[in-house]
Amino acid sequence: MSERVPRLGDVVDDYCPRCRLLLNHDVASLAKGRTMLDAFSHTGAFAAYAMRAGARAVTLVDSSSAALAAARTNLELNAPGQCETEFVHDDVPAQLRKLRDEGRRFDLVVLDPPRFATNRHQLDNALRAYKDINRVALEVLAPGGTLATFSCSQAVDAASFTMAVAWAGLDAGRELQIVRRLGQGSDHPVLASFPESEYLKGLLVRTA
Ligand SMILES: C[S@@+](CC[C@H](N)C(=O)[O-])C[C@H]1O[C@@H](n2cnc3c(N)ncnc32)[C@H](O)[C@@H]1O
Repeated sequence: MSERVPRLGDVVDDYCPRCRLLLNHDVASLAKGRTMLDAFSHTGAFAAYAMRAGARAVTLVDSSSAALAAARTNLELNAPGQCETEFVHDDVPAQLRKLRDEGRRFDLVVLDPPRFATNRHQLDNALRAYKDINRVALEVLAPGGTLATFSCSQAVDAASFTMAVAWAGLDAGRELQIVRRLGQGSDHPVLASFPESEYLKGLLVRTA
């Protein structure tokens, strides 16, 4: 497991308060009274917003103990004692399988991995990885739950990412409805001549 905390550029949107705020609010608006899994939580921004929005319980998973320690402080400062919290230091794919096998289910799952492809040569493997991780995320999603799933791989375009999530739904045997598409916001405008500058793709997906 990596102990490295991402640097500026790895999670560039963390340093972009306005677009990050919008994303966090979009996801948090679904959290009231619900249980949430914040997978690849980093310093817990999604979880903190969800707690403030009235989540019943939040579980954060990240492979960086430094990021999790910061998340703990973040939640204590921003949403003290507002709901049950659980901090899990683990590899997300392994932890998702463990949670699934234990029968744990969550009303809201956020999946915000690091980028899986840095160039076109890695595209096929990246799409396979997105499909696999989204499938197992769907397997821990409670009936009627919502998955907020992201890709920050510049080399993976929105249509390909959507297709990977659709395949994940088929593999998981779940009917998926895309209720909203999320993105990086106006702080990171997309250059018309450089479509890869649309680096952040997000989907809010509802399941039966
Ligand atoms: C894109 S950032 C997540 C940003 C976060 N959702 C936020 O709102 O600030 C990716 C995170 O994934 C973590 N990570 C990378 N590989 C991982 C793995 N295999 N299992 C668990 N966490 C991992 C990194 O430590 C980093 O915190």
